[in-house]
Amino acid sequence: MTDASTVAQASQDARNSFTMIDNRTGQSWELPIIDGVLGPSVVDIRRFYAETDMFTYDPGFTSTASCDSGITFIDGDAGILLHRGYRIEDLAEHSDFMEVCYLLLHGELPNAQEKAKFEHNITYHTMLHEQMVNFYRGFRRDAHPMAIMVGVVGALSAFYHDSTDINDPHQRMVAQHRLIAKMPTIAAMAYKYSVGQPFVYPRNNLSYAENFLHMIFSVPAEDYVVNPVLARAMDRIFILHADHEQNASTSTVRIAGSSGANPFACIAAGIASLWGPAHGGANEAVLRMLQEIGSVDRIPEFIERAKDKDDPFRLMGFGHRVYKNYDPRAKVMQKSCHEVLEELGIGEEPLLKLAMELERIALEDDYFVEKKLFPNVDFYSGIILKAMGFPTTMFTVLFALARTVGWVGQWTEMIEDPSQRISRPRQLYVGNEPRDYVPIQQR
Ligand code: SDX
Repeated sequence: MTDASTVAQASQDARNSFTMIDNRTGQSWELPIIDGVLGPSVVDIRRFYAETDMFTYDPGFTSTASCDSGITFIDGDAGILLHRGYRIEDLAEHSDFMEVCYLLLHGELPNAQEKAKFEHNITYHTMLHEQMVNFYRGFRRDAHPMAIMVGVVGALSAFYHDSTDINDPHQRMVAQHRLIAKMPTIAAMAYKYSVGQPFVYPRNNLSYAENFLHMIFSVPAEDYVVNPVLARAMDRIFILHADHEQNASTSTVRIAGSSGANPFACIAAGIASLWGPAHGGANEAVLRMLQEIGSVDRIPEFIERAKDKDDPFRLMGFGHRVYKNYDPRAKVMQKSCHEVLEELGIGEEPLLKLAMELERIALEDDYFVEKKLFPNVDFYSGIILKAMGFPTTMFTVLFALARTVGWVGQWTEMIEDPSQRISRPRQLYVGNEPRDYVPIQQR
């Protein structure tokens, strides 16, 4: 967090300030401008209300920076995504998810010894308290797995009391490791419960992605051999979803954490926020949309619907609050799509052909060009996941699984910031003037 001395320094330099004038009274104020390492500078308005007796107004936070962060940077106009300064394309190509987790949490790529130790810690936290199995039995078999994730992850705080003290750095680290390690197990159990198959325990001799595929797809009746191409694709999908600045679910985690809530409760709040179709639920919505469109000749009809203000339909997997260019993750995802479909011998996947034709037509349409609506991370992910054998209802679960490292990393960054305070926005009140109570007999 930018401390007072930085602000004081900024405000001393007149060039680094923003003069604001209230034209109703002629009164003016000097607001400090603070420059980041990359991206837009900020006007520090922390004293704005105290000095002006007015609030700033920004529903949806389109123009508001809620915090300092050094974890991820997005240049939406250029379509750039960096994690601790490393390009997402390089990480997707050369790194693996465990290494990206270490990078996000510790700020540097690990050396071989650091990576081995981190991976060992995660591996040896993958089992779930056996009594938590009972939670699954309480859900209907057709419960949406995201409902199970919200419930079971929130319930972790009822089992792991020795990692809920947010003021103890060791307990924070244990909570981080437990959450990253147990999300695949919890997610796989949600899937197994939904298909009536027995839960599969994690295996310590498998990598993070291999272990997840094993817990999802193996059955006691036969040996399951993980396909290395699919494991690599799974690992890459986790990397692409790991973190993304102050998106809705990460901001939810930060706000929940700002009250001092335990990390498990905060991550459960993040899962709840991610579930929405405008956010992480979009990958599931994209596949349903492609299935509804059904054929290339119906694409124009749906493009027109997406442009019609009176029609709530939107082109799912398109558009982004920050990216006004191609989402770099979508490009990597599309490349992975072709690799997985080729490996599985379904190169002619009709949904992929439909998605690519939909993308081509949309990107030639003035509406999408003017509004800078490009495919985002969710546009292709569903096609890969469906080809790998995941049901549509599991798509957002996988997003939550991967984003857990981003959530815990951002949560930790906030908790460790000495100037962090509880998040408590204000409002523009548009309700009733004060009025006297009217007894029911007189209403
Ligand atoms: C994720 O924030 C993150 O970083 C999120 C994420 C992450 O990694 O955490 O990247 C993951 O959530 C990706 C986004 C997944 N959601 C979708 O694919 C759902 C479809 N997209 C839209 O709902 C929308 O684009 C949002 C929610 C993603 C962004 O919404 P904004 O920034 O509030 O933009 P907006 O709704 O104000 O749209 C601007 C204009 C509007 O038209 P006007 O009112 O200006 O005339 O573009 C239009 C919108 O109607 N528009 C679309 C559209 N998206 C925006 N029109 C048709 N189809 C779309 N998909």
